[in-house]
Amino acid sequence: MKSFFDVYQRKTSESEKLFKRARDVMPGGVSHNIHYFPPYPFFLKKAKGPRIWDVDGNGYIDLWMGHYTHILGHHPEIVVEAIEKQLEEGIHWGILFEKQVEWAELVRELIPCAEMVRFCCSGTEATMYAVRLARAFTGKKIILKIAGGWHGANSDLSFGIKMPYEKEETPGLPPEVHRYTKLIPFNDLGGTMEVIDQNRDDLAGIILEPVPGEGGFIPATTEYLEMLRSETERLGALLIFDEVISGFRVALGGAQERFGITPDLTTLGKIMGGGLPVGALVGRREILEKTSPERKVDKWERILIGGGTFSSHPFTVAAGLAVLRYLKEEAEQIYPILEARGQKVRERVQESFRREGIEALVTGIGSLFQTHFPSQKGVMLDSPHSIHRLTDVEKREIEFRIRMLTKGVHVMHGGGSLSMAHSDKDIEEIVQATREVAKEMADPVGSSEV
Ligand SMILES: Cc1ncc(COP(=O)(O)O)c(C=O)c1O
Repeated sequence: MKSFFDVYQRKTSESEKLFKRARDVMPGGVSHNIHYFPPYPFFLKKAKGPRIWDVDGNGYIDLWMGHYTHILGHHPEIVVEAIEKQLEEGIHWGILFEKQVEWAELVRELIPCAEMVRFCCSGTEATMYAVRLARAFTGKKIILKIAGGWHGANSDLSFGIKMPYEKEETPGLPPEVHRYTKLIPFNDLGGTMEVIDQNRDDLAGIILEPVPGEGGFIPATTEYLEMLRSETERLGALLIFDEVISGFRVALGGAQERFGITPDLTTLGKIMGGGLPVGALVGRREILEKTSPERKVDKWERILIGGGTFSSHPFTVAAGLAVLRYLKEEAEQIYPILEARGQKVRERVQESFRREGIEALVTGIGSLFQTHFPSQKGVMLDSPHSIHRLTDVEKREIEFRIRMLTKGVHVMHGGGSLSMAHSDKDIEEIVQATREVAKEMADPVGSSEV
């Protein structure tokens, strides 16, 4: 009997060759662990709209979309034009330019909490600065993060990401690094209030994604966010939303606009850079002003955030500005369309599994979705830890992913993000592929694998 691995390998011999070269020179053959899956990942040649093509000539509908970045699809005309125009003016200067100010002004206009903006090169940097700024501003040390939450690989928050949460996430970080980072259970009011209470005297801030990427894009409840908002206010701590994925995605103004809760600080990335490296820390003027080089204070009173040779790189600024302007101008059209497409894909994918009697749960919000395979019937998924504890993550990450690739659809975490480039016909193809995969999973022996 041939396995889905064999089917994949038969179609991807050039990728297999490239992977052999890659793993000889890069650990695991990759530069980001999420790009790896067994037996080897495929290598890409080009991308346009909703589609990608690998080095063997296979085409796929892409749902990963550059780590959820390409809300307008791959290689959109407005981004290409903006970069070409910027190329005529210069590549990288490390000197201020007007577009940078326009970009910051636009971010301020769109994101409710953004009174000031500091740009950087990645979401990881943004969350690192957010933690530092919260501690420096409040003069307190403890940061609470969600159990299972991912905020990039910065040292302060590389804790409690994978189960078992209480074990070190990685060798190389002295235990002292996490002495002041503690975990709260997402969407669990009582459990979270208990931890807040235990740490109330030294609480600098709480950081969370209102729509966790590691949590099936299942949103925080309004009561949960309201409780975090009022508890942080009461204790003089900062509420930090990590909107690296949800910013400009679940609404133009991100989850904070959608849910009507304004945090003190927000980290942004992905969509904001139009497909080029980007991050930003935005928030209340009173807090961000403390980082200004204009402050006439002793060095130990000025909060150091930033650095970054390539922060506000002209290509990123040009591309980011073009995308944000477009999103703003077309918001009334774009967000309802994305919402409807997301709803449709979630319902239809769920239905494909139901038909075959496979235990699967499709979760998400707006244009984001994931598919999970619960280890038993009737489980409730409402947080990263419920997904880690109650579902077969390996089945999702390896079997479902590879089977979907063999049917021409590239999923991440069992789903991904829809863009303005995904048409109704593309959604039909995604659903059709899922139906075929569900059939195979229900009856691997009777399927084409034999
Ligand atoms: C919620 C969240 N925060 C932060 C990051 C880190 O961003 P970057 O990969 O740009 O460093 C990510 C990346 O996936 C993310 O999903």
